[in-house]
Order: sequence, then C-alpha cells, then structure tokens
Amino acid sequence: MARTSVVTGAASGIGKATKELLESRGERVIGVDLHDADVLVDLTTADGRRALVGTVADLTDSLDAVYAIAGLATPVPATVGVNFFGMVATLEGLRPMLTTSASPRAVGVSSMASLMPVDDELVAAMAAGDEPAALARAAVLAREPETTGALIYGSTKKAFAQWVRRSAATEAWAGASIPLNAVAPGIIATPMTADMIATEEARTQLLQMVPMPLNGVAEPIVVARLLTWLGGEENTHLCGQVVFVDGGSDAVIRGDSTW
Ligand SMILES: NC(=O)c1ccc[n+]([C@@H]2O[C@H](COP(=O)([O-])OP(=O)(O)OC[C@H]3O[C@@H](n4cnc5c(N)ncnc54)[C@H](O)[C@@H]3O)[C@@H](O)[C@H]2O)c1
Repeated sequence: MARTSVVTGAASGIGKATKELLESRGERVIGVDLHDADVLVDLTTADGRRALVGTVADLTDSLDAVYAIAGLATPVPATVGVNFFGMVATLEGLRPMLTTSASPRAVGVSSMASLMPVDDELVAAMAAGDEPAALARAAVLAREPETTGALIYGSTKKAFAQWVRRSAATEAWAGASIPLNAVAPGIIATPMTADMIATEEARTQLLQMVPMPLNGVAEPIVVARLLTWLGGEENTHLCGQVVFVDGGSDAVIRGDSTW
C-alpha cells in the first residue's frame, strides 16, 4: 500500500519540494501550512498544534511518516514558536499515529545555522520545554534585530538538533521502532533566502559566512531527496542523526571536532 505522510511547510521551498517528490512516487501527502495546504494551521499556537493532530486524524487512519519542515528565519519570537515548539509538537503530536505503521519514520529540519553563535539562555529555555520563558527571552533578543536578534534562528536550530539527539534513542521513538532524525541544510534557494542571494555580491558575502565548497547554494530538491530517504522504508537504523546537507560548511567549520 502507498505510504501516507504529513509534510509541514508544504506550501513553499523545501516542504513543497518534499511533498512533490513523495507524490511523484505515488505516495499520499497531507500538506500542512498557513496557506495553500490540506491542513491550514498556525504552528506557533497551541490551537494550531491541536488542530494539526485532530485534522490529520480525521483525514487518515494510517500514517507512515512525519516531515516537520515549516520554519521561519526572521529575528522575532514567532521563529521560536514555529522552529522549535511547533516542530516538536508536530512530531510528538503525530507520533501515536505512527505506531500503527509497518515502517514508521519521523524527520525534522535543523540547519547549519545551529553551528553559528547562539544565545545560551534561549537554547536552555527550549531544552527545558519552557515556551513562555523562551518567547520572553526571544522578545528581549529581538529588540536589536541585527545583533542579538540574529541569534534567535541559530538557537532554535541548535535546540531542535539537541532535542532530536536526546529523544531518538528513547522508548517513545527507538523503542517504538520509529527512526527519528534531522537534516541540517546549508543555503538552499527558497523564498526564505531569496533576498540573501538575490545579487552576486550578496551571495558571495553569504557564502563567506556559510562556506559551501561542494557545489554552492542548493535547490530544495536536494534536501527533499535526503528527507524522503530518512522518512522512507530503507531507513531502518539511523537514530538521532543530524545529517548536514550543506555543500561542506559543517566540514569546514567544525573540522575534526565532532569526534
Ligand atoms: N532555505 C534555507 O537556506 C534553509 C537552510 C537551513 C534550514 N532551513 C529550514 O528549512 C525549513 C523550510 O524552509 P524553506 O527554506 O523551505 O522556507 P520557506 O519560507 O520557503 O517555507 C517555509 C514554509 O513554512 C511555513 N510556515 C512558516 N511559519 C508557519 C507557521 N507558524 N505555521 C505553519 N506553517 C508555517 C510557511 O508558510 C512556508 O510555506 C525551515 O525549517 C528552515 O528553517 C532552510
């Protein structure tokens, strides 16, 4: 039987490419987004997260994979709401539905920005699952968008990667035979980055900060192919991995330090 997946952020960029790739293989996709999707919800809100789970349960009896992709990259508290708490709520909220699948999979999107400077207090509030404290801290950081505000995005992506590392081997995920993993893209050409790579000068400047010696800026299909492998039947043993699909920025920035 064809697999059924939920894809958040399905209206644009990486989520759209993932939805289209799965559908091109004959799989069923329930797209979730603020607009242009099967399920219209705002993942920064408790109501939106509840509605996501309830509506997916109304639309299907069986769920094989969850792709938590929706995100924001602006220096505002809502970025914390969707990138961390929305992503975790998507994965945790839909996890019980995965347990009836013969080959359940779950995957979310971190970023190479998780390697950039972060705000430790914000990361700690997310790690503690304390959304009010995290939003309050983000509101303080957001007052200076160019400096402290710029730490918000990377902080959400680091906290999400840590959540995947800490959760994947537990009873709820590995114990239920559900591989839980993340991808960490470099610069991908989507509406999120359009302004940052609009001119040759801007692109060159960005690539100095985010070195991508292997083939430079990537198209969203590149990430979609990796996501769909992580969310597909062949992936039986990857557990808590944060797979960088970044043209080499992780290798350049971290070198040997992961070992
Ligand atoms: N583009 C990149 O260079 C890049 C790099 C690393 C990681 N990422 C991550 O990949 C994911 C997808 O990004 P993209 O580049 O495709 O961006 P995008 O802006 O093209 O798409 C993001 C989608 O998420 C949806 N979304 C945003 N807030 C939402 C909310 N509150 N509730 C529901 N949906 C919401 C948007 O409506 C949009 O359709 C994000 O998590 C992003 O942080 C992107």
